[in-house]
Amino acid sequence: MTTADPRSAIRPSRIVLGITGGIAAYKAAELTRLFVKAGVTVDAVMTEAATHFVTPTTFQALSGRPVVTDLWHAGTSNAMGHIDLSRGADAIVVAPASADFLARIAHGHADDLLSTLCLARECLLLVAPAMNRQMWSNAATQRNVARLRADGVAILGPDVGEMACMEHGEGRMLEAADLFAAVVAACQPKVLAGKRVLVTAGPTFEAIDPVRGITNSSSGKMGFALAQAAADAGADVLLVAGRTPLATPWGVTRLDVTSAAQMAEAVLARVAECDVFIAVAAVADYTPATVHEQKVKKSNDALSITLKPTVDILATVATLPRPPYCVGFAAESQDVERLGEEKRRRKKVPLLIANRAQDALGSDENAVTLLDDTGAQRLPRMGKVALARVIVGEIGRRLAQ
Ligand code: CTP
Repeated sequence: MTTADPRSAIRPSRIVLGITGGIAAYKAAELTRLFVKAGVTVDAVMTEAATHFVTPTTFQALSGRPVVTDLWHAGTSNAMGHIDLSRGADAIVVAPASADFLARIAHGHADDLLSTLCLARECLLLVAPAMNRQMWSNAATQRNVARLRADGVAILGPDVGEMACMEHGEGRMLEAADLFAAVVAACQPKVLAGKRVLVTAGPTFEAIDPVRGITNSSSGKMGFALAQAAADAGADVLLVAGRTPLATPWGVTRLDVTSAAQMAEAVLARVAECDVFIAVAAVADYTPATVHEQKVKKSNDALSITLKPTVDILATVATLPRPPYCVGFAAESQDVERLGEEKRRRKKVPLLIANRAQDALGSDENAVTLLDDTGAQRLPRMGKVALARVIVGEIGRRLAQ
């Protein structure tokens, strides 16, 4: 029995958040809040122009750390503050990045603290452009952006929409939640680079009549977190999802289905092109033998519904002539590891993740055991997003072997 360390899943741990002059600077406050809430240390660095839109106090209060604005007061004992701040950071994220700032870093300028940090760095650099649509589409800006891309700088956005100047077009900064997701994604180890991954998630719904059906209490959170973690690890991810209100994870292609039969059809039509299949969905094992066309009317008699078995999607995929690497889940209410291992062998999957159904369903956290030919690996209870990253790391490690 081995135990994996969930702390390895938390990335980034520290970022330098650069804020340049632009109306969108207020969105950087929300971005700071999201990072801090996720346990990420944020060192905010503002250009002089940025301080005309938002004050350093805002970022100081949100990050709980000093905010630096001046190359000559970068606040370290060895007068190397311009370099020290980016040392050990996972990324420098510049949001908003003005047209002028993009031009300066495209040409290697180092005439203020933020541009100097961008030049003297070993970590990732991500920029979120924010400007008027004409400034964005101007040939000079596009040349600078192409130059930055070629230099390995990640350009996040911009979005199309209503601008501060009341014009409509491309140039709006991405929303804080999207920037957060993109930065977290960029900081993940690319253990599934180039792999195509198919994930099923959420509950299925088996219709009885036009208004009623049989479903279960799966929230889809674990499957969505795995789809997100796989995409962040560099995979091309298709998520086949049952009914759930969850938002589509960043960078993931989603296909919505309702019934077990639809889920099976969607998976079997696409799985041949995949390298990895992760079955997380809570698929109905039975479906009504007949679906009433009209609403079933109430009477005083007992009513019975005849159910017929559905296709076991995971077992079908795992026994294809050339199956992808299959990962299954087992929700057991008792004797989790023994029943999980029996299920793994019965369905012929190399890796099965067993959990207590009562612990997992609907919750934001889970404690699971990974079962494979080498035995059982217990993971401590943790949030489903962190858990998904650990599981993806384990899948990547097994694929590499
Ligand atoms: N699964 C599937 N298709 C089905 C039923 C289950 O692909 N028709 C997959 C699930 O997505 C999960 C695994 O099989 O990865 C095990 O699901 P689970 O509900 O724990 O087991 P069942 O096979 O349904 O067996 P039981 O309900 O008897 O425990």
